[in-house]
Amino acid sequence: MALKILQSFVSSVLILWCLSMLLLLDQVSHKTALASTRLGGNETDRLALLSIKAQITHNPTLITSSWNDSLHFCQWKGVLCGQRHLRVTGLNLESYNLAGFISPSIGNLSLLRIVNLTNNSFQGGIPHEMGRLFRLRVLDLRINLLEGQIPGNLSHCNNLRILSLDKNKFIGNLPKELGSLSQLVELTIQLNNLTRAIPASFGNLSSLQRFSIAWNMLEGNIPGSLGSLKGLRFLVFTGNKLSGIIPPSIYNLSSLVLFWAPYNQFHGSLPQTLGLTLPNIKTLAFVENQLSGFIPRSISNASKLELLSLARNNFSPGVPINFGNLKNLSRLDLYGSGLGTGDINDLNFISTLVNCSKLIGLYIGNNSFGGVLPNSIANFSTQLQLLTVGQNKLSGSIPPDIGNLVSLNTLSLYGNQLTGSIPTSIGRLHKLQDVAFGKNKLSGEIPSSIGNLTLLNILGLEENNLQGNIPSTLGSCQGLYWLELYGNNLSGSIPREVIGLSSLSISLDISRNSLSGPLPQEVGNLRNLGLLKLSHNKLSGEIPSSLSSCIRLQYLYLDNNSFQGVIPQSLESLRGIEELDLSYNSLSGEIPKFLGIFSFLRKLDLSFNDLEGAIPAGKVFQNASAISVSGNNKLCGGIPALELPSCPDEKPRKKKMPLRPALLIPIVCGVLSIILTSSILSLCWLRKMRKQPSVASSSMDSWRIISYNKLLKATNGFSSTNLIGTGSFGSVYKGILNPIDQKAIAVKVFNQQRKEARKSFLAECKALKNIRHRNLVKIITACASVDFQANDFKALVYEYMENGSLEYWLHPVLSQTGHEQEQQKSLNLLQRLGITIDVAAALAHVGDFGLARLLQQHDISELSNSQISSVGTKGTIGYIAPEYGMGNEVSTNGDVYSYGILLLELFTGKRPTDGMFIDGLDLHKLAKLALPERVMEIVDQNLLEEEERASINSSNQMKNEKNQSTTLRQDKFKHEVFPQLKCSTFAHSIFY
Ligand SMILES: *[C@@H]1O[C@H](CO)[C@@H](O)[C@H](O)[C@H]1NC(C)=O
Ligand SMILES: *[C@@H]1O[C@H](CO)[C@@H](O)[C@H](O)[C@H]1NC(C)=O
Repeated sequence: MALKILQSFVSSVLILWCLSMLLLLDQVSHKTALASTRLGGNETDRLALLSIKAQITHNPTLITSSWNDSLHFCQWKGVLCGQRHLRVTGLNLESYNLAGFISPSIGNLSLLRIVNLTNNSFQGGIPHEMGRLFRLRVLDLRINLLEGQIPGNLSHCNNLRILSLDKNKFIGNLPKELGSLSQLVELTIQLNNLTRAIPASFGNLSSLQRFSIAWNMLEGNIPGSLGSLKGLRFLVFTGNKLSGIIPPSIYNLSSLVLFWAPYNQFHGSLPQTLGLTLPNIKTLAFVENQLSGFIPRSISNASKLELLSLARNNFSPGVPINFGNLKNLSRLDLYGSGLGTGDINDLNFISTLVNCSKLIGLYIGNNSFGGVLPNSIANFSTQLQLLTVGQNKLSGSIPPDIGNLVSLNTLSLYGNQLTGSIPTSIGRLHKLQDVAFGKNKLSGEIPSSIGNLTLLNILGLEENNLQGNIPSTLGSCQGLYWLELYGNNLSGSIPREVIGLSSLSISLDISRNSLSGPLPQEVGNLRNLGLLKLSHNKLSGEIPSSLSSCIRLQYLYLDNNSFQGVIPQSLESLRGIEELDLSYNSLSGEIPKFLGIFSFLRKLDLSFNDLEGAIPAGKVFQNASAISVSGNNKLCGGIPALELPSCPDEKPRKKKMPLRPALLIPIVCGVLSIILTSSILSLCWLRKMRKQPSVASSSMDSWRIISYNKLLKATNGFSSTNLIGTGSFGSVYKGILNPIDQKAIAVKVFNQQRKEARKSFLAECKALKNIRHRNLVKIITACASVDFQANDFKALVYEYMENGSLEYWLHPVLSQTGHEQEQQKSLNLLQRLGITIDVAAALAHVGDFGLARLLQQHDISELSNSQISSVGTKGTIGYIAPEYGMGNEVSTNGDVYSYGILLLELFTGKRPTDGMFIDGLDLHKLAKLALPERVMEIVDQNLLEEEERASINSSNQMKNEKNQSTTLRQDKFKHEVFPQLKCSTFAHSIFY
């Protein structure tokens, strides 16, 4: 009985236990089931973010380092979550310098609303999976390196408000599917490589307010359907190949604030009602199309207009606009649009501009406008900075009160028929930089008040009837680099202050006047001048020997004066001379022999002087059409074509070749050390180069000057991702000029805030234009223009040095290029030797031009401006000769010193700025101390190892590849292995 009770008790307990267990289990499993349904979404988000992270290959700011499991993903940097369900709604990774690909997993972030990856270096395509993000409102991928086609299935993101793809490398067409994005407010795809036509379906983007496809290669017509986008405010077609007639429906978009269509191939005329149908328009630009017909009179009604640019079209004559109502007008550009008739009423519209109190720029040049230059110009807004009315048919005089326009920095009246004198009030225009009054009929004296214009850069008064003296006050214009006074009736002597103005660098032309007296010694100050023309005056006395300091002269014309005496021997330093005209003077003595050595001289006129003796031998004298010596009765010899009598006493002339024996020394001594041999070899090369005829030189004319727009596009809008480096004179960007050949260029943009930079541009341009040498970075083209804000823009375009700098190859570990040092080999002996030879060859070439001096001068001025210690990062420190630091003149010796330091660096592997060089020890001393016994101690260890390895390899290969080593040295090294490296030190000094 008791047992039974016990049994039932136990079983009931068991049952109870089982039941409670079951209940418990059920509860638990219920809970887990709940949990797992919740977990699905947020876990997907976490995994998607991790795979986005995994596709980022370059992450310098370590933004995604917080992306790990120690934090909830909603706290990861750049991730936005919804407050309620803690799911990812936004990804803001802008400007973190990220590189890599956009992971397709982004399509799994199903609640995503905002994606902002602007200003990084993402590459590859936009993943198709993005098309799943139907909640997406903002997709901002501007300023990356994205490529491929724009996926049409982005049209599934039908909540999209903003789609910005500017400054990438997208190709193909604009997908027509995008036309279904009915919520889209902003669509900008500027600066890509899109082709083909704009889809008509875009007319369905009914919410669109901003649409820009500037700077692509789109073609075809603008679809008329765009005229149904009634909310459109900004519409930009700039810089494509669009053609045809701009559909009239566009001009009915009354909400338009900005409409730009420059640099396309549109034709047809502007609708006469334009000013009425676009009541909100602020900027309207059609520059460089083929528009014709009359300019609409109704523009007078577009009262909000700030910018109107109709330049370079073929409009019918007449400017029927009354600008009086356009109170906000700041720029009016009618340049070269065919608007003049030559009639006296052509400029009637000018007086209506007097009311435009915000006018900053007025460009009406090159239109054949007739009539007089209205006095009302003097009543324009005092904010006016640019006034260009050149190349018209204007008569009358310059308004005497032009001095009212106190903000003017550019004033061009060039190429008209203006009479009267230059108003004295011009001296009040303290901000003037560029003045062009040339080719008019101005008379009277040049007002001395012109010396007040201390910011003046360019002064052109040529081809007028100006009289009196050249005002010595011009000497105060210490920024003047271009002075043209030729073709006037100026008299008196040349003021010392003017001929000694060392800022003059492009051109000083005062020919065809009646200037008299001697050429002042101060001419020697013109160290940077390229062209000096004093022809057709009454100058007398001797040619001053100080002229020898003008080492950058390329063109020197002293003809048709009364110079006497001999041609100074000191002019031997003018090695860059291309044209020299001394004809029609009274020069006597012999023709200097050095003229036969000048390698660039291609035109020499010595005719009608009193020169005597033998015609020298050498380059220019071998070409009868390059020289003229007629009218000198005592000359003899020369090539038969000159038809001169042979010289009575024809002794074989001794060639004056200094330093020749030095060449023998190394041969006699044999190989002393690696360094010694290589330097001497290089020196030989250097001398050989000096004797060789010049490598092809070309002139500025053959240059294709490139537009600002092209450079903008080539460099992705000068984006920071394209920036290679910045220096004291500006920034250098990498770019692709021609999308077809994909050849990289380096664009050096000069910092226009700095006067020296501007000078440097002109100097560099001028100097480099003629230098073509296989060992120098090739300058491809140049750009001197204005940017979109009408600021001065100057840039030089070079070949891009794919292999980086010599610095990078010599000091791989410390190089700052940020590139991976994958399988970085150090340079072997032959390679290093080759570099020294190539640099020497280039140096000889540059030396002929004084270019090195020019470039170094900048570095030196840099030195004196800032603390020596703070410029430690500059490449030239350590290379410049010690005497430069003490303010000595820059000289060829200095160049040779720098070259020597480079040699030592190449073979010791030590930078001249190495930390070991303290207490008076420097690289030069180190080498000197080690020579000759302990050379091996200072030779670059890498070099020794490399040579050891090479000798092992080569002994193995000897048998089957006999001749290869020479081939390798000669060709492979020079042309394949390091095609760009040859002159990287120069690349350096040119770029920074
Ligand atoms: C996912 O959601 C569940 C349920 O709300 C929550 O318990 C869990 O912590 C979440 N996980 C993450 C990583 O947010
Ligand atoms: C993306 O981020 C940048 C930088 O913060 C910002 O200027 C830009 O307006 C953002 N894009 C959008 C569409 O909001």
